[in-house]
Amino acid sequence: MANVYLNGDYVTLEEARVSVLDRGFTFGDGVYEVFLVYRRQIFRFEEHMQRLDNSLAAIHMQNPLSRDKWMEILMTLVQGNPAADQSLYLQITRGVSERDHAIALARTPTVFAMSKPLPQRDLTRGISVITLEDIRWKYCHIKAITLLPSVLLRHQATLAGAVEAVLLRDGYVTEGAASNIFVVHNGLIKTPPKDGNLLPGITRDLVLELLAGAGIPCAETRISADDLQAAEEIWTTSSTWEIVPVIKLDGSPVGQGRPGRHWQRVFAIYQQFKNNPPLQQAEGI
Ligand code: PDD
Repeated sequence: MANVYLNGDYVTLEEARVSVLDRGFTFGDGVYEVFLVYRRQIFRFEEHMQRLDNSLAAIHMQNPLSRDKWMEILMTLVQGNPAADQSLYLQITRGVSERDHAIALARTPTVFAMSKPLPQRDLTRGISVITLEDIRWKYCHIKAITLLPSVLLRHQATLAGAVEAVLLRDGYVTEGAASNIFVVHNGLIKTPPKDGNLLPGITRDLVLELLAGAGIPCAETRISADDLQAAEEIWTTSSTWEIVPVIKLDGSPVGQGRPGRHWQRVFAIYQQFKNNPPLQQAEGI
């Protein structure tokens, strides 16, 4: 099954090959996106494409393909996969060059996309997280493939028996190792503001949009470590996880130690939106 697109060709995962001198391999010099596909339709296509363009601009690259071409490629992968619900991974690296830092040496980007069935993992009963110092760099708004710090942080959480790490920089929450964070504190929903310290999550923005649409206030504001510890609810959001309630923080229960009522409400609104996306999105145009 051809579930991979690589530099103009549709191939199988086994057939897909890139050079060892690809700068993605030698420098982690590239960016990526993860899209979800529900019932064979790409969810939030335009928002992911805009973020891809932003990531590329931040690393001095242009999108090598038009929106229409991307839609064609991704839909070809979606249609070639028997699963109705899928995840799509897309990666653009600066391409092949001798191993020299100078970016001008690379002329042709490597363009890669693959589809796989959406892993079925039910996290709605809640997860445990631990807090860790955010050891990453200062350009976390770029969805860069250079993910070693995030990999190590997630591993540290796993070793502690947790599912995710909530990262703290200078005593304030930035985000999760691979998710954004919301808290309910003193009855108010809060999420950290978009700055260089976090990835502007597509799910985060959608949750904000849905909350606003339902008339539920939410503040984009800094969340201190103390506020996090005192939170009635904590949620993590990402395309693959949607909105997951956190029921244990550093070994202690969050609120009542079960998914909270605010989470239940926003999760229901999210599911409703996902199952009835606006027409423009449903058609993926
Ligand atoms: N990660 N923050 C980080 C550091 C992330 O890696 C992710 C997603 C998010 C959530 O973004 P979004 O809502 O757009 O998925 C926030 C993806 C899923 C990954 O790396 O696999």
